[in-house]
Amino acid sequence: MVRVPTKLVTWEEIVEWSMGLARVIKESSFRPDVVVAVSRGGYVPARLMCDFLLVDNLVSLQSQHWTEAAKVAEKAIIKFPYKLDLSGQRVLLVDDIVDTGDTLMLARDFILSEWRPAELKIAALQWISPVAKIKPDFYYIEVKEWIWFQYPWTRHEDTVQFIKRILLEERGKEWTYEEIRARFEEGYGIFVGDAYFRLALESLVELGILERRGGTYVAKTV
Ligand code: ADE
Repeated sequence: MVRVPTKLVTWEEIVEWSMGLARVIKESSFRPDVVVAVSRGGYVPARLMCDFLLVDNLVSLQSQHWTEAAKVAEKAIIKFPYKLDLSGQRVLLVDDIVDTGDTLMLARDFILSEWRPAELKIAALQWISPVAKIKPDFYYIEVKEWIWFQYPWTRHEDTVQFIKRILLEERGKEWTYEEIRARFEEGYGIFVGDAYFRLALESLVELGILERRGGTYVAKTV
């Protein structure tokens, strides 16, 4: 049975953590000219860094894991490697979390060699110190034991994935809404709220993974 240690992160916590991270940056001597968001996770924290540090310039770079067909190993890629001249600029590269650090290291290396800023520093709301290959220059929370942080900007996406995993364990089984919800809470230890839960079930039906039969749900077998 799938069980993933998960913490539900609220929008209020995001504001509090981002304000805390901005404070850490302010207490250093680093004054960024440009903020670069690591897409997609760094978007909201990067926007909040611009707000709290009063920085006007914000761009983004999509660095993400790419699962090659039939391969278990994932490698990080820069999805849209566009050209940009950041010579003379001090860059703050922002992500939500440093987990393994792979996508962040790739983004950093790409920016340093292709966009050529005068200086680059890394900031993240959270740093999972036991698994991360790099330590960000600035972070707000050091996480000592790996868990999944359910951030508000992936609430729907994560809920869809979490329910999908539960349903695919027992294909063909007929579930009521309450049963799926109870199994979700058991497996992930959180509840995202009825609006998100119903929206996720609707998406799973649209994706053809789930079938609605009157008041119950059945995971499709093909
Ligand atoms: N992205 C990569 N690692 C993550 C984690 N542990 N929690 C939330 N988002 C992540």
